[in-house]
Amino acid sequence: MSEQLKNRKIILGVTGGIAAYKACTLCRLLVKNGASVFVIMTPSATKLINKTTFEALSGHRVFVDIFDRTEDISHISLANEADLFVIAPATANTISKIVNGAADNMLTAAVLAAICPIAVAPAMNNNMYNNVATQENLNTLNKRGVYILTPNYGNLACGSVGTGRMKEPEEIFDDICSILAHRLTSKSETEGLPNYQGKLPSPVKPLELSQTKLLPKAYGVGFKVLITAGPTVEPIDPVRYISNYSSGKMGYMLAQTAQALGAEVTLVSGPVNLDCPKGVRKIDVKTAIQMLSAVEDYAQRSDIVIGCAAVADYRAQNVASCKLKKEDDQDSLCLNLVKNPDIIATVGKLEHNRPFTVGFAAETENGVNYAIEKLHKKHLDLIVLNDVSKPDIGFNADDNEITVFDKDGQIAHFGKQSKAIIAQYLMELIFKTCKKSKD
Ligand code: C5P
Repeated sequence: MSEQLKNRKIILGVTGGIAAYKACTLCRLLVKNGASVFVIMTPSATKLINKTTFEALSGHRVFVDIFDRTEDISHISLANEADLFVIAPATANTISKIVNGAADNMLTAAVLAAICPIAVAPAMNNNMYNNVATQENLNTLNKRGVYILTPNYGNLACGSVGTGRMKEPEEIFDDICSILAHRLTSKSETEGLPNYQGKLPSPVKPLELSQTKLLPKAYGVGFKVLITAGPTVEPIDPVRYISNYSSGKMGYMLAQTAQALGAEVTLVSGPVNLDCPKGVRKIDVKTAIQMLSAVEDYAQRSDIVIGCAAVADYRAQNVASCKLKKEDDQDSLCLNLVKNPDIIATVGKLEHNRPFTVGFAAETENGVNYAIEKLHKKHLDLIVLNDVSKPDIGFNADDNEITVFDKDGQIAHFGKQSKAIIAQYLMELIFKTCKKSKD
């Protein structure tokens, strides 16, 4: 029996998605582990699963009709007393209603009245999930403090393959335990908190991560993560250098997210215009050689190394000690360049204490082939492909769109959204895949 669930009151909201059948397993797991579960179904959910099933599993009446009251249980009293409100599956329709504060059925009305933490497990077709409307709705919920239990990539009921498959009941169960373990959910801490006072309509502490969905912190606990970020700067003379347009945003977001998820994070950064995320150890470097040396210091003490830096491929063979002068009789200048060490490949090829190694492939054409080739050549566990030819994603942009490959092929695709959200999807995937590789 799970300690986090003993004597906890959990409202399980079930909406009308095919994944509703998985909510039965979730309900069973929660009850088996000591929780009191109250199920609220939307009218369309009852077309997929009979409410008697949930009544048998939970041992309590199931609520569907908003006018259907017993003496002392209404949507208000249910919502007042719960320790956690989890909606699994959460359809795009219910998510959008929650965003707008609709109260057109027992479930949406109870959400509106809830003062406990709320978690939603989206389940839908991948195009519906990636649609900007759904993404913006999820971003809005996240900013209000709602936990978004990111759907998995895989086969969908509609026959497509993509992101939108509801997390497995066991995964949602783990998330619930983490939420209850890490959030302020005891009565004394939430009692009396207004659920809207014209500012943060969340019953929980303000979010530490701006603009991001929250994941149960436990994902990263126990992991030491080393991340390279930003460009490297390769001097030519005291006033000139070779570099690139990398802003460092993606690497910094990954560092911030990994730290927020409970990991111990070291960030090796080239020169960028960003503040070091709170709680992250930062090592500043300029050149690829300096970056390699910092990475070599930490790699074998890390569980995961993520190469997000845009390392200059070449550096000047000889750095002039004085400023190079423009000569009147010289129309061209030949600069001799030598190859820089490949930092992430050095990590990937380590023979002892090799960490789980993740690289990035920023490509302008033929991305999939180059990414897979790099994964093998650099001995990586995962490679993250992003198309930097599109101006609205990749270098310097605030958004990104990525595809992730392991040695057997594509394992995930995350459609265009903020780098903050991408960082959360990606870190969760990296932690999960790394854990699996060790099992
Ligand atoms: O070969 P390419 O530069 O495209 O590979 C990109 C991946 O390799 C990124 O993860 C980047 O951080 C890493 N890299 C590196 N050292 C280099 C070049 C790239 O760690 N010298």
